Amino acid sequence: MLQYLDDVRRQIDDALESLFPPAETYPDVIYRAMRYSLFAGGKRFRPTLTVIVAQAAGASAESVMPAACAIEYIHTYSLIHDDLPAIDNDDYRRGRPTCHKEFGEDIAILAGDGLFAEAFALVAGLQKASEQRKIIQVIKELAEAAGPGGMVGGQVVDMESTGRRVDLDTVLFIHAHKTGKLIRAAARTGAILAGAADDEIEAYSRYGDHLGLAFQITDDILDETGSLEELGKTPGQDRASHKATYPAVAGMPAAITRAQEEAAAAIDALNGVKTDIERLKGLATFVVERTG
Ligand code: IPE
Ligand code: IPE
Ligand code: MG
Ligand code: MG
Ligand code: MG
Repeated sequence: MLQYLDDVRRQIDDALESLFPPAETYPDVIYRAMRYSLFAGGKRFRPTLTVIVAQAAGASAESVMPAACAIEYIHTYSLIHDDLPAIDNDDYRRGRPTCHKEFGEDIAILAGDGLFAEAFALVAGLQKASEQRKIIQVIKELAEAAGPGGMVGGQVVDMESTGRRVDLDTVLFIHAHKTGKLIRAAARTGAILAGAADDEIEAYSRYGDHLGLAFQITDDILDETGSLEELGKTPGQDRASHKATYPAVAGMPAAITRAQEEAAAAIDALNGVKTDIERLKGLATFVVERTG
């Protein structure tokens, strides 16, 4: 991994540790379950995106860190629920047994709910660092990205498409919603809090859209080519469950080409942006070259 991505990830891990309530908070089982999934590793890709966009738009990492961490809470909640027996029924996540395997389904559902709620408390708490107008906009962005018009909607179509023959447009809808919307919102959050101009916010949004597709197509590819060790989750699950993935519908060579095209399109979307975008280019390359 590129050195600066590693440095930002470390900063995010430190911030998560300092912001998240301690494990012994009563009722401790829920705090332990949330922490179990949040601190199991994870690439911290979405908060990294928020930080790097904010920096490109002229803000400090510190000024957006609570919002970046909130996005990681939302993402972690989505993983806990995605792994539940009623959804993907997975046993491993981030290199350890899934939350419901460790704590039971009841606590895992509530741990997801708890992380989702804590995320909004964290963003609302930005009050001292950012103008209220920006905070309210970020809350709206994240709520819409996570809701039925975003991640939840994508997960619904993912469920409905499992075991069915679907076309590529349906796969692209699933990918753009279950994964793309939160990634787009992560990019927009960095730009909004940094006070970027509207046309630059739009450029970062398009960057996020392409990155989101590249990210999920790569996730589908790695499900077929990766190992438990690299991925921290059981490979081969998508084929076994007859999931509507990009390689299943279009073939592996087309999936690899499309992921690369989306990463290139993400970089192209930044053409009009005047500030230093080298790190954003590096992040786009990381998305398709990662092995975990
Ligand atoms: C996995 O996300 C779920 C998808 C939306 C593809 P990540 O690959 O970012 O998982 P972590 O956060 O690194 O564990
Ligand atoms: C997950 O997609 C999307 C969300 C969690 C919203 P996947 O089901 O492909 O993610 P993995 O492969 O389990 O990480
Ligand atoms: Mg899933
Ligand atoms: Mg899954
Ligand atoms: Mg997957």
